[in-house]
Amino acid sequence: MPFHAKNPTNPAANTPYYTPAQNPPAGTALPPSNTANGDSSSSASSEVIPTLFTPLKIRSLELQNRFVVSPMCTYSADEGHLTDWHLVHLGSFAQRGAALTIVEATAVLANGRISPEDSGLWQDSQIAPLKRIVQYIHSQNQKVGIQLAHAGRKASVLSGLGMGIKSWTWSKVATPEQGGWPDNVWGPSPIPYSDDGYVVPKEMTLSQIEQLVQGFKDAAKRAVEIGVDTIEIHGAHGYLISEFLSPISNQRTDKYGGSFENRTRLLVETVQAVRSVIPETMPLFVRISATEWMEWQESQPGWTEEESTKLALVLADLGVDVLDVSSGGNNEKQQIKIHPYYQLDIAGRIREALRKAGKLEKMIIGGVGMITNAEMARDVVQTGEGRTPKADLVLVARQFLREPEFVLRAADELGVKVAWPSQYARAPFPRREKKL
Ligand SMILES: Cc1cc2nc3c(=O)[nH]c(=O)nc-3n(C[C@H](O)[C@H](O)[C@H](O)COP(=O)(O)O)c2cc1C
Repeated sequence: MPFHAKNPTNPAANTPYYTPAQNPPAGTALPPSNTANGDSSSSASSEVIPTLFTPLKIRSLELQNRFVVSPMCTYSADEGHLTDWHLVHLGSFAQRGAALTIVEATAVLANGRISPEDSGLWQDSQIAPLKRIVQYIHSQNQKVGIQLAHAGRKASVLSGLGMGIKSWTWSKVATPEQGGWPDNVWGPSPIPYSDDGYVVPKEMTLSQIEQLVQGFKDAAKRAVEIGVDTIEIHGAHGYLISEFLSPISNQRTDKYGGSFENRTRLLVETVQAVRSVIPETMPLFVRISATEWMEWQESQPGWTEEESTKLALVLADLGVDVLDVSSGGNNEKQQIKIHPYYQLDIAGRIREALRKAGKLEKMIIGGVGMITNAEMARDVVQTGEGRTPKADLVLVARQFLREPEFVLRAADELGVKVAWPSQYARAPFPRREKKL
């Protein structure tokens, strides 16, 4: 019998090594008198727990708070295989209380990677390293999802990592010598994202579209086999699905181009394909760019919030459980008026449209973008007392990179007593000076 199986000190379930069970999981709100966070002297400043720290059940997925680690490419995979780097990176957020951690955009076909170092799930050898991460996150009693993606016309570029270059402001085509595939980049139409740093994509044939949908289906099957708790389909940021949504990047004349129904067909087929192979109990997320910020170009305003709202109503009826509302990324000429709520306000309006249509019971909203502090995270999802939340979940990216303990810190700042990872219980945040 392995040591962990007979260890009397409360081992984590279903884990092939000994690690203490985290029960309740870190980030769970505790009654004010509970001392499980190791801080017996503090008392919650409010008796009412903010919605941010209340549980949420989506199909069979139970989250103890509303924090989700937004998918973040790290361009650090080895031929699509995740490594111990990802284990530590993703594990650190889950360990510190994020209820759900979504693994970065993961290519469903090899030519769907942005860079040669992107994560992938197009072949069975990619199962084991992802399984190790899923198992670790589960050992912490937290949940894990994966974002499945195809980069379309934005594929086969260099990440710039380790080259002294800011990868998000720069792009350069990855040549075959550099592991790239510039002759096999797909798009809805032969229109490049930019004349600088991107190739002209090949217009996808109908059989390539079928291959793509099958790729999503096969990757979803692998993800289920691995044991992920949820899947997110990447339909945002100018990658393949969002390229099909936009009348600027999609100028096809077949059943995948032209009308709203035709441009959304690829996403609809992908949703149906993924739904058909994941358990009924597993929630499905879809991320969209709610606008491509091209409204300024009146002759061709592109994919707009209005079309996103229409799409939301369709997706709600297709078994999508969470619409993750992002924006932009499909056009280098996009014009965004950035302010802290620039995306969250759109999420709020789409949520309101769903509510009015009586579809909020079927599909809820994930809000993302510039959430950097506790108060903002709280306000975005707060319900009750005449409040209209903008979202039901907060997806946070960069703040988790700056502060992997963002959930614990937010709880402290909001005066909510939460469970900590049990090994860290002796290190609560020092008491802040009380204002007199
Ligand atoms: C390093 C990095 C990598 C990202 N990779 C992805 C990705 O793989 N998939 C995705 O949908 N969004 C990706 N994004 C966008 C984030 O998920 C998020 O939507 C965006 O950063 C706004 O949230 P924030 O203000 O909390 O950072 C990435 C963002 C960053 C900073």
